[in-house]
Amino acid sequence: MGFWKNLFSSSESITTSPKSMSGDPDAISNETRIVFSTERDIDLYELEELCDAVGWARRPLRKVRKALQHSFLVVTMWEQRGVKRRLIGFSRATSDRAFNATIWDVVVHPQFQNRGLGKALMKYTIKKLRSEDISNITLFADPQVIDFYRRLGFTLDPEGIKGMFWYPDS
Ligand SMILES: CC(C)(COP(=O)(O)OP(=O)(O)OC[C@H]1O[C@@H](n2cnc3c(N)ncnc32)[C@H](O)[C@@H]1OP(=O)(O)O)[C@@H](O)C(=O)NCCC(=O)NCCS
Repeated sequence: MGFWKNLFSSSESITTSPKSMSGDPDAISNETRIVFSTERDIDLYELEELCDAVGWARRPLRKVRKALQHSFLVVTMWEQRGVKRRLIGFSRATSDRAFNATIWDVVVHPQFQNRGLGKALMKYTIKKLRSEDISNITLFADPQVIDFYRRLGFTLDPEGIKGMFWYPDS
């Protein structure tokens, strides 16, 4: 945990885009950095691999592509070693672009969990939404991750409000 914290604070490697990283990539070939991006040129097979790694059910790539295209914000987190990068985290948000945004598909690769990276990914996502002046940020938490989101300031059922779902077969 401390390792990653030092990495963030010392090198500001959390950049909004790998393209905006300063310096010659070859010069950092021995360093490992964690890089954030909001670019959408994601290899869908790499994303599928990441989702597979946490046991999520597969979704048709055609629909995943469409969901990404129509998301308001797409955040990817990469482990960057020199010029090589590996997708290790993901989140996205849909939004009315004025008041509300909902965060979806938050995931950190199991090899990188419990090091503060999920928290960093969420903070980055929230920062991006706040920079668009969006004040109402919601999400649907699986029961086992409620406390993860609580720690980030999310409130369960504020003022008794309940999430409701409609399914085609109901
Ligand atoms: C949930 C997930 C994104 C957390 O990522 P992570 O990198 O392991 O989380 P972090 O290491 O940043 O943890 C941040 C804090 O939350 C806590 N935390 C992490 N996972 C938790 C969990 N499942 N339940 C409760 N607390 C949790 C950590 O202990 C840490 O606490 P601290 O700030 O007091 O030290 C990751 O476990 C994951 O991808 N899980 C599978 C996919 C998933 O369930 N996504 C959410 C769908 S709603």
